[in-house]
Amino acid sequence: MPTLAIVGAGPQMGAAIARKFGAQGYQIALIARNRERLDNLTSVLSEDGLDVASFVADVRDHQALSRALLDAEKHFGSVDVLEYSPLPASDYLQPVLETTREQAQAAFEFSVLGPMTAVETVLPGMRKRGTGSLLFISGGSSLVPAGTVAGTSIAMAGEAAYLTMLHQALAPENIQVSHLVVPVLIGPGEALGNPTALAEQLWRLHADRDRFRVVVGN
Ligand SMILES: NC(=O)c1ccc[n+]([C@@H]2O[C@H](COP(=O)([O-])OP(=O)(O)OC[C@H]3O[C@@H](n4cnc5c(N)ncnc54)[C@H](OP(=O)(O)O)[C@@H]3O)[C@@H](O)[C@H]2O)c1
Repeated sequence: MPTLAIVGAGPQMGAAIARKFGAQGYQIALIARNRERLDNLTSVLSEDGLDVASFVADVRDHQALSRALLDAEKHFGSVDVLEYSPLPASDYLQPVLETTREQAQAAFEFSVLGPMTAVETVLPGMRKRGTGSLLFISGGSSLVPAGTVAGTSIAMAGEAAYLTMLHQALAPENIQVSHLVVPVLIGPGEALGNPTALAEQLWRLHADRDRFRVVVGN
């Protein structure tokens, strides 16, 4: 069975993506910082019949993130799809004149170095198998900077640039890189930001393998 690793797995997109891929026959590795929340999500999804295991890591901790993904590979046999969508901290969502250098650096670690670590860890296996998908979700400030959320605007622009280059480099190797940009609030009551509908869009990006970046609502 193929395996999906969700980096930054939480109750909204994390759970919806796990359900979508789980229904398609994927084993699911959940990665986030808080063991108790991960255990809760794991038991809810397991009760629904999904094959789920969880691994603790902070995406800003290079070694911990790499170890969690390697542990997931060891547990399930491979990571065939990587999905990266941790929810940014409020520190990264402050006005530009109130954003410190330290906050910008933390946002960069979160949105650029975290993705690079995750890719570095799972890509060798994908290349060996000659296939794989690297899927990323970010907010609208990754494409249009918003001075009210300065940290993510700076850092997610870097993430968007990295993903563009990654897509160009890996397309000839049958490794799909896709970037789902969500410029609206995510929540069950949101028309465009409904997690189940967004998870469906992410699945299509993985399954159809014909689009790199999709901006929700465009
Ligand atoms: N929520 C929105 O309104 C919104 C709007 C536009 C775009 N987005 C994007 O959509 C994606 C998912 O958002 P969501 O609200 O649906 O989130 P979610 O999947 O419900 O939860 C994300 C999880 O990320 C984990 N996380 C946060 N910081 C982390 C870190 N440093 N290391 C590891 N894990 C971390 C948190 O778990 P722990 O606390 O256990 O680590 C959290 O539960 C994100 O990429 C976000 O940028 C969200």
